[in-house]
Amino acid sequence: MAKGKKVKRIGILTGGGDCPGLNAVIRGVAKPAHDNGLSVLGILDGFEGLVEGRGRELYNKDVSGILAQGGTILGSSNKGDPFHWPEEVDGKIKIVDRSAQAIRNYEAWDLDAIIAIGGDGTMHISKQLADMGMNVVGVPKTIDNDLEATDVTFGHDSAVFVVTEAIDRLHTTASSHHRVMVIETMGRYAGWIALHGGIAGGADILLLPEFPFDWEKVYDKVLHRHMMGKRFSIVCVAEGAKPQDGEIVVRAKDKKRTDPIQLGGIGELVAKKITDNTGLETRYTILGHLQRGGSPTPYDRILSTKFGTYAINLAIKRKFGRMAALKGSEIVSVRIEDAIAKQKVVTADNQDVQAALAVGISFGVENLE
Ligand code: F6P
Repeated sequence: MAKGKKVKRIGILTGGGDCPGLNAVIRGVAKPAHDNGLSVLGILDGFEGLVEGRGRELYNKDVSGILAQGGTILGSSNKGDPFHWPEEVDGKIKIVDRSAQAIRNYEAWDLDAIIAIGGDGTMHISKQLADMGMNVVGVPKTIDNDLEATDVTFGHDSAVFVVTEAIDRLHTTASSHHRVMVIETMGRYAGWIALHGGIAGGADILLLPEFPFDWEKVYDKVLHRHMMGKRFSIVCVAEGAKPQDGEIVVRAKDKKRTDPIQLGGIGELVAKKITDNTGLETRYTILGHLQRGGSPTPYDRILSTKFGTYAINLAIKRKFGRMAALKGSEIVSVRIEDAIAKQKVVTADNQDVQAALAVGISFGVENLE
């Protein structure tokens, strides 16, 4: 990997969970790359394809017409961490290190750099590969919006749009049938999707991972609304939320994934507890992967295009080990290692939280600290 060499050939991959806007980033990278005389290799299924040597050339025709398409034309995977590679030996999963193979393929493909589009898992892997000498530029993707180094990750706005629309729809049955409706969002250990979707949808209670909730406060809020003649309530709960006296709800564990824990199920528990403790009829909806699917919002299409075009410029200028990030209205670059140093979580002094409180939304706690 010669230093200072003109960048002529770029690899691009999408890692982790899919997310609206991935194709817009791929297009944003590939079009200017071609215009600058670079060739682009699409690495298939994230780092899995890098280890297994699976890729395909991306020409202009391949990235034309994909701006509004959800998912990723390259495929993605949560199981392809080269440093945590699951191999089946005698029916058992053994975790091995395949990073040397990843580097070999990078060299065999004659790549000058890789643009890695992904969340914190992808950035962690990118940092480790960069330490081994690979030239990497990162683009921050995740509906969870939990990367501290960027104000917003692309995909978040599209997920919030889905949550908002779902809550709007749930209002219909909630008010017709005088029910409590619980809606569970994604977000892992950060409450951004529930917070933003809940505010935009006009939820009455928001339960977030950052603020372990008190069951009594939840019951009090729905009963109070009921007594005041508001005969329905909407509870928006993030999958990572947990009660003060309980644990996070884990749906399943999968050793093959970098993070083996799959969250989900708190919505059902919240609905059951509300029915049992208030007597109010309650239903729950788990939005799940609906939040990751479909066409990106205009905001995400623009942000993804800006991230992609910025990232290819970083690569051409040989500014490796950096990730594109949004700061205010500017796209800037940050060191990948700084980008993964801290997870961005919701805090009590956040203006969105304060606005939610001011319009009477409960977070299921006595006082937010
Ligand atoms: O990180 C994005 C995300 O959608 C999380 O909000 C969620 O917990 C997780 O991925 C689900 O992953 P999977 O689709 O692999 O179950």
